[in-house]
Amino acid sequence: MKRNLIAVLLLSGILGSANAAESDENVTAARKLVKGFFGELKGELQTAMKAGGPVAAIAACNGKAPLIAHDLAQRSGWDVGRTSLKLRQPKNRPDAWETAGLKSFEARKAAGENIKTMEQSETTEVAGKKTFRYMKAIPTAKLCLTCHGTDIKPEVNEALQKLYPEDQAVGYTEGEIRGAFTFSKTL
Ligand code: HEC
Repeated sequence: MKRNLIAVLLLSGILGSANAAESDENVTAARKLVKGFFGELKGELQTAMKAGGPVAAIAACNGKAPLIAHDLAQRSGWDVGRTSLKLRQPKNRPDAWETAGLKSFEARKAAGENIKTMEQSETTEVAGKKTFRYMKAIPTAKLCLTCHGTDIKPEVNEALQKLYPEDQAVGYTEGEIRGAFTFSKTL
């Protein structure tokens, strides 16, 4: 009897650490995806800004951001996206897990945590399937203020209003949380 109990305890210990290792692996993979995704988005943004200024860059962002996400999803097998509590693109709307995550990021920031390294992950059920989910906070940098800041130029505002009549993603200052990268993988 006692032997069985010890065997069960040992086995659950081994399984537990296997799960932890799998989860560590997924976090490492997600962090790599963030780097790639952010790098490509920022590259496109900077190239478009340099070539045609912010108004042209808005059109580039509108067209390219979803393509970059789609392409990365195809290559990696992960679901790849961005979300926010104050949206520009309505398709980026957060689900319940993401809304809770974004709110907890705000609370963690208020408690003094550095948003540059802020992330969360969880293995959970999505539509009946075991899924690994990961989110990482996106800080608002100076570069972002042209299109997400408090003092937006009239021509930029006009271009934004045309494409996003319900735009909420303005009024940010440097160092605030603009939103989050959100990645998931069916296990
Ligand atoms: C040239 C204008 C421009 C600049 C500069 C800019 N963005 Fe955006 N941003 C956009 C547009 C346009 C969208 C909507 C893209 C789409 O339709 O998929 C967007 C969407 C987003 C989203 C997705 C969530 C949402 O609201 O739909 C995040 C997150 C985001 N931007 C963060 C940033 C960050 C961080 C920076 C600075 C590094 C930045 N942006 C700089 C124009 C800009």
